Amino acid sequence: MTKSNINIISVQETESTNELAKELLRKGKHSLPFVVQTEYQSQGKGQYLKKWESNKGENLLFSLVINVPQINIEQSFNISKIVAVSIRDVLSTYAKNVNIKWPNDIYVGNKKIAGILIENTIIGQRIDSSIIGIGLNVNQAKFDASLPNPISLKQIISKKTNLDSLRNKIVNQIIETFSLHHSVEEKYRAFLYRKGELGQFIDLSGDEFLGVITGIDSIGKLQIRTENNKIRSFFNNEVQFILPETN
Ligand code: BTN
Repeated sequence: MTKSNINIISVQETESTNELAKELLRKGKHSLPFVVQTEYQSQGKGQYLKKWESNKGENLLFSLVINVPQINIEQSFNISKIVAVSIRDVLSTYAKNVNIKWPNDIYVGNKKIAGILIENTIIGQRIDSSIIGIGLNVNQAKFDASLPNPISLKQIISKKTNLDSLRNKIVNQIIETFSLHHSVEEKYRAFLYRKGELGQFIDLSGDEFLGVITGIDSIGKLQIRTENNKIRSFFNNEVQFILPETN
């Protein structure tokens, strides 16, 4: 996998770049890695069946399709770590205080600048290919009031950023991190949003509790030390952060 020869497939509008990437992967016409990007998604997908909203032509909406022969199913969280750390590294050249909100949201301060939706194709015990969908708020100046806590790069640095060049930096960084087998473990932990801070959480049964994020375990479960000094571990749909009010 090399950085220089990535095929970029651009469409003006699609339902979801992840879905289009899946279709192209099925047809098998493009060699991997390739990128599918669009200016507008009519059915942009977020995690947990949420929608991903983005104004036309203002933000990055793309899916990188890669082979990940070195990663087996149990290690699938490694893909999230590599992608999140890569995006964080690139964005931190533009802005301060860029962190990774477990499992793989990118935050600036207490606001979300990017979301990642990874969909893997599994063959046996191996992940054959991975569709890495990235939505990054770049030049959008205003967001719908119904969205919880969005922020864009423009709102932080007060100027527009060229979408293609930012996309290239991110894609190259992800591919480089995959192919150099860089361990991203330490960086992922170092930039884990709210690690070591007392925070409020809500679990699947609706119970609110106070705790301190201590890290993640080997399969990517979030570890939280609770008030009675016990460590609780959660998969990514099992716990939610109660975020501080933002303005
Ligand atoms: C999340 O934070 O909920 C994940 C959001 C992922 C959005 C991106 S935009 C490009 C790609 N295509 C999609 O339909 N979703 C991802």
